Amino acid sequence: MAGLPKTPSPPRWLLAELTYACPLQCPYCSNPLDYKNFSAELSTNEWKRVLKQSREMGAVQLGFSGGEPLVRKDLAELVNYSHQLGYYTNLITSGYKMDEAKITELKDAGLDHIQISIQASSKELNDFIAGTESFDDKKSVAKLVKKHGYPMVLCVVLHRENIHQMRDILEMAIDLGADFVELANTQYYGWAHHNRDQLMPTQEQLQDAEKIANEYQRSQQGKMKIYYVIPDYYENRPKACMNGWGTTFLTIAPDGAALPCHSARQLPNFDCPNVKDFSISDIWNHSVAFNYFRGDDWMKEPCRSCSEKDKDFGGCHCQALLLTGDATNADPVCDLSTQHYLVTDAIKQATQLTEQPLLFRNSKNSKQFNH
Ligand code: FES
Repeated sequence: MAGLPKTPSPPRWLLAELTYACPLQCPYCSNPLDYKNFSAELSTNEWKRVLKQSREMGAVQLGFSGGEPLVRKDLAELVNYSHQLGYYTNLITSGYKMDEAKITELKDAGLDHIQISIQASSKELNDFIAGTESFDDKKSVAKLVKKHGYPMVLCVVLHRENIHQMRDILEMAIDLGADFVELANTQYYGWAHHNRDQLMPTQEQLQDAEKIANEYQRSQQGKMKIYYVIPDYYENRPKACMNGWGTTFLTIAPDGAALPCHSARQLPNFDCPNVKDFSISDIWNHSVAFNYFRGDDWMKEPCRSCSEKDKDFGGCHCQALLLTGDATNADPVCDLSTQHYLVTDAIKQATQLTEQPLLFRNSKNSKQFNH
């Protein structure tokens, strides 16, 4: 492709989605709606090959996620193998059913970092959103994580149902001794896109939440880091999704599909290469999928002549697909896009309260979506 570097810079961040199995049912899960169609999982040895090849290419940060990575019996073995390869290893988990023995086992295996998600500051709401009684479990796991000397990272996905708890969520984080809190508003892909009208906060809710986040950022300076992210839909310019397609992040799905972003699977005619068929280096450097949005040859107007194209790379292609039906359009979050109205209309539609219940992420609901 013209305009592309001959050899792209290597991946730095590897996200190993070990499994789509999860005991929780969050209605904003970023896993594909039809995840039940991808039930075959890579074996331990296949994962080891992926880990080794990615490290040889230059990946340094490694996230184990899912689904729920704790479901995999070989998690400690994979952590230990990665540790020996020299990765900085992160476990991205709900913490559900994670006991002290598991925390010790993972520490001994060389795990560097644990990020626990919590759904709300109250048991009632947490357990409702998680679709599983898990609040007490998560809180005690958070304390154990701290006790065992990990950096204590709490992640709370915000949406219309819990954003009013912002202050209580931050007080809970202080109480648990969190070193870092990620308060990330839902982004609308996967299950969250399906539930968008029920999850989207109002402008007023967002402004109130931001004020509280700023207040705590000031008062907790030097004690607890707070990272607050607003939904793309309320921005005027798109984000540089994945730091630019095929520049930094490599995601491997449970069945071995290699993805430039966690949602890439939904792109039409997008033949995801599989690690069972190709090496990581072949996939990263030569596959059509990873080269698809590299450079700017693919861009249409207004991106093509935009002075910000080297900053945002046209935004998020999966969002462009979901909203406009064409992944090569500008991300309509951008107010320079002629289709920006799709975003503002979606906000208007979402704020007219709906009686539609949330669709929870579980196998029964997944089966209604076709591959
Ligand atoms: Fe796929 Fe943004 S999530 S490009």
